[in-house]
Amino acid sequence: MKVLFIGSRLYDDLDWYVKSKDIESILTESNEEAINLDLPNQVFIVPRGMDGPKQVALMHKVDAIVPLIGIDPPLIDIAHMKEEVETEYGIPVVAAGVRAVELTSDKIKTKRFYEEIDVATPNYQILHSPDELALEFPVVLKQGEGQGGKDIKVAKYIDEVEGYFNEFDEALCEEFIEGAEISVEVLGFNGEFVALPPIYKGETTLEGTHPLNKIKSGPCMVEGLDNNLVQHTAYKIARNLDSDGIFEMDFMYSRKNNQLYAIEVNTRPNGTRYLTTATCGVNSLCELVNMAIGEFSLANISNKLQYYYSAEIPVGNYQGPKPNEPIKSFEHNDFVVHGPEGYQRVTARANSKEELDELVDKLT
Ligand SMILES: Nc1ncnc2c1ncn2[C@@H]1O[C@H](COP(=O)(O)OP(=O)(O)O)[C@@H](O)[C@H]1O
Ligand SMILES: [Mg+2]
Repeated sequence: MKVLFIGSRLYDDLDWYVKSKDIESILTESNEEAINLDLPNQVFIVPRGMDGPKQVALMHKVDAIVPLIGIDPPLIDIAHMKEEVETEYGIPVVAAGVRAVELTSDKIKTKRFYEEIDVATPNYQILHSPDELALEFPVVLKQGEGQGGKDIKVAKYIDEVEGYFNEFDEALCEEFIEGAEISVEVLGFNGEFVALPPIYKGETTLEGTHPLNKIKSGPCMVEGLDNNLVQHTAYKIARNLDSDGIFEMDFMYSRKNNQLYAIEVNTRPNGTRYLTTATCGVNSLCELVNMAIGEFSLANISNKLQYYYSAEIPVGNYQGPKPNEPIKSFEHNDFVVHGPEGYQRVTARANSKEELDELVDKLT
């Protein structure tokens, strides 16, 4: 099997798996200074965009293409390339298609999509000026596009809404949900979908603190919230998006209203994956490879499922004990260190909460 990977930044997370499967790896990257270029069998530096990867795929007659892009802007180009390469050349591209990317890359379209498929989402209005505001404070102001909390503001007073409108002409304005933040990874391929265990990402705050900066844990254990409901809702959203690859879905749970709300979907590798793997043993990046080589199935996922307590802690610069090889995997480790220097995080897992606390103490 010969597989083309697009983008090197995440490649060290799955290099060990690609090697264990005896896959011939080809990788395209647009930045010749990028990390991990020494890992695949062959590397091609190509201009930005999807023309270069497509040419390399055709020239080298690869069996499948796996984009490893962890940011939003290129997703639509990848989706168009997928549709062309799959219909014209019959090469599977393990990524979301055009409709799924269009629906999920714009938070306003995502809200309308939730309404169409009857999934609860926080009340909202599209504001063109502060005096149109009809929701009660606090409200959350967002732009259609963005990730990592970019352009998001929790407003408690009208002057904060006015301040936001000094910068933007339009805002998606949502009621503020006080409660737990939850993420779920869903894997999908050829019409089969599986929702992995929900991860708890902390409580919402009036400062709008992004989950990137909080302690997270798995499996999600929030009183009053049934994880089956979260998984079922995630499954329903994925089935209606009807596409391939990884879907990371964000939810909030209000204890006061006993209501689960859907917030957004990311159709790409994402930051929840280390905790998902720690918690249940399924690694979403490795599953992308399995989709590419025809080894993805619900039965295979069920056979892999494990049950651990896990936590992820921001540590800045990790100084604890050295992990075993392969270092970016839980194969021979009970912890994984990831993220750029200064912003590193450690994800750890154990058989009980007590053992997890001890392990976390040792690592941080
Ligand atoms: N309706 C809301 N109520 C409370 N907090 C919210 C709400 N919407 C967003 N937030 C906070 O802002 C963060 C980022 O919002 P999100 O819509 O997921 O955008 P991003 O794409 O930047 O992750 C959320 O994880 C949460 O902490
Ligand atoms: Mg988010």
